[in-house]
Amino acid sequence: ADQYAQSGEAVRPPDVAAVSAHPSIPAIRWDDPPEGPVLVLLDQTRLPGEESELVCTDPPGLVQAIRTLAVRGAPLLGIAGAYGVALAAARGFDVDEAADALAGARPTAVNLAYGARRAQAAHRKAVAGGADRRQAAASVLAVARALHKEDAEASARMAVHGLALLDELMPGGGHRVLTHCNTGALVSGGEGTAFAVALAAHRKGRLRRLWVDETRPLLQGARLTAYEAARSGMPYTLLTDNAAGSLFAAGEVDAVLIGADRIAADGSVANKVGSYPLAVLARYHHVPFIVVAPVTTVDPDTPDGAAIEVEQRASHEVTEVTVPFVSAAGAEVGGGIPVAPLGTQAYNPAFDVTPPELVTAVVTEEGVVSPVTTEGLAELCARSRQV
Ligand code: MRU
Repeated sequence: ADQYAQSGEAVRPPDVAAVSAHPSIPAIRWDDPPEGPVLVLLDQTRLPGEESELVCTDPPGLVQAIRTLAVRGAPLLGIAGAYGVALAAARGFDVDEAADALAGARPTAVNLAYGARRAQAAHRKAVAGGADRRQAAASVLAVARALHKEDAEASARMAVHGLALLDELMPGGGHRVLTHCNTGALVSGGEGTAFAVALAAHRKGRLRRLWVDETRPLLQGARLTAYEAARSGMPYTLLTDNAAGSLFAAGEVDAVLIGADRIAADGSVANKVGSYPLAVLARYHHVPFIVVAPVTTVDPDTPDGAAIEVEQRASHEVTEVTVPFVSAAGAEVGGGIPVAPLGTQAYNPAFDVTPPELVTAVVTEEGVVSPVTTEGLAELCARSRQV
C-alpha cells in the first residue's frame, strides 16, 4: 500500500481545456527576421527552471545544439535535421556538407538522418529542376515544415491507437503507467509518442498514475517528463531508475510506455539506456511493455538489434553532475560537480536495445503491431508509404 496509487482510487477526467503539456516556448520554430532566417530552439538543457530560447544561425550551431541535447528526442531531431538543411540552403552554406554533418551529429535516432536526408533530397530535386538559390531554399523549407506538421499529426494518431490498446489490455481503466526518458511535446511537432498516450488517458480520466523514471545520467525524466506532467495536471510520481524493480514487485505498474530512437527491421528497439531493464522487469511481472513511435523511427535498413549503433557519451556525464540546468528553485546546478574520484572512467551508453520478444506491442500512427514481427513491421511501413 502507498499514498500514490491505490487500486480502486476514483479517477476523474480533468478539465480538458486546461490540459496542455506544451511548453510556453515551442520546442522548435523557424523565424525569418530582417537579419536572416534562424532556427529557434527551446534550450532543453535549462529546463525545468528556465524556459529560454537558443537561436541557431548556422548548421554548425545546430549540430552543437544537437550534441549537447539542447534539442533532442527522436522525432524532434528529425524535424531539426530538416530545418537545419533549410537553414543551410537559406544562408548559402554547402547543403550536402550540412546534411552530412546534421545526419551524423548523433548516431542512434534514425529520425535525424531521415529528416536531414529528406530535406537534402528536396534541395537536389529543386536544383536539378532549374531552381535558383532562393527557390531551392524555399523548397527545402517547405519540406521541413511538412515534416513538422506530419509529426504533429502522427502524434495525435499514435495517442488514439495507444489509448485503445491500453483500454483493451486493461478494460478496467485506471491505468498506472511507468515511463522512461522524455517523450512528450518537447520531442515532437505534436504531443509526442509514449507521453501522448498517457496524456490521452489522462484526458479521458483513465490515468491513475504516471510513474516517471528520473533517467540517469542526464535526467530527462526528472527535468523534462516531470515538467510536462506537471504542466498537464497529471497525477505523476518521480522515482529513481533503481526503484522501478520494487515498484513492479509491489504490483503498482499496469503498463510500461516508452518511445524509441530506432526500431530495427526485426523489431529490436533502441531507446534511452534503462529501457531494456524495464522490459525484463515487465516480462517477469507479466506487465505489457509498449513502445510508441512514428513509422519514421522504424528503419528497414537496420536488420536487427546488433546492427544498431548505440551512441557512447562522455564519462563526465556520469562522474560529474554536468547538466547545466537551472533547478526549479532557480539555482544554477551542474558545471562539473564531481561525484566520483578524479580520473574515473564511466560506461555511458546513451541507449540500449530491447529484443522484440520482450516488446508486447509497437504503436505507430499507422496502427499497432503485436506480436512484434519483421513481417508486421514491414507491412506497416508499406502502408505508410502508400499514403
Ligand atoms: O538522448 P535523448 O534525450 O535524445 O534520448 C531520447 C529518448 O531516448 C527518447 O525516449 C526517444 O527519443 C523517444 S522520443 C519520442
